Amino acid sequence: MKILNGFLFLGLLLSIISCGGSNNEQDKDGKKLDRRTEIRLMQYKVEGKKLYQLHCANCHQENGEGLARLYPRLAGSDYLLNDLPRAACIIKYGQSDTITVNGVEFNQVMPGVPTLTPIEVAEILTYVSNSWGNEAGISSTRDVSKWLDDCKR
Ligand code: HEC
Repeated sequence: MKILNGFLFLGLLLSIISCGGSNNEQDKDGKKLDRRTEIRLMQYKVEGKKLYQLHCANCHQENGEGLARLYPRLAGSDYLLNDLPRAACIIKYGQSDTITVNGVEFNQVMPGVPTLTPIEVAEILTYVSNSWGNEAGISSTRDVSKWLDDCKR
């Protein structure tokens, strides 16, 4: 009887381990994907921050809050967050329309940086749309390349 119990116990243990094992695999795969996106987002942000400091912070400021009526804010900007493809075009090609950002009108000129590559635009855009409380997620280089091809110039 003791031996039988021992076998039953062993069988139960094995089935628990094998079931648990396969579930863990699934969990791991799911987590691996999330983790990969998370790491890519972090990499984009690190590179994007350097480029932002070089090309954008003069006007929009380190904290993304812009400067009075001269330079619009990027932190919490509806204009930015409602249309990321448009923002990609502005970064590369500049902008000189009358625009309204969070209810405030701007009619200034922003010079673009036409030498930026699609990956650099993607990094900057990912940085500005995921900093200072913005949480738009990653703008991939693939998407940004497409958006840049479609810019009205
Ligand atoms: C010389 C100052 C200057 C620099 C440098 C500059 N901008 Fe701008 N930016 C402006 C101005 C001025 C506007 C508003 C343009 C208008 O009135 O049409 C603007 C508009 C914007 C907008 C749309 C409005 C908003 O607030 O959401 C975004 C997005 C933006 N800039 C991002 C950037 C990024 C990213 C960089 C760096 C690659 C950059 N800008 C560099 C001055 C600048």
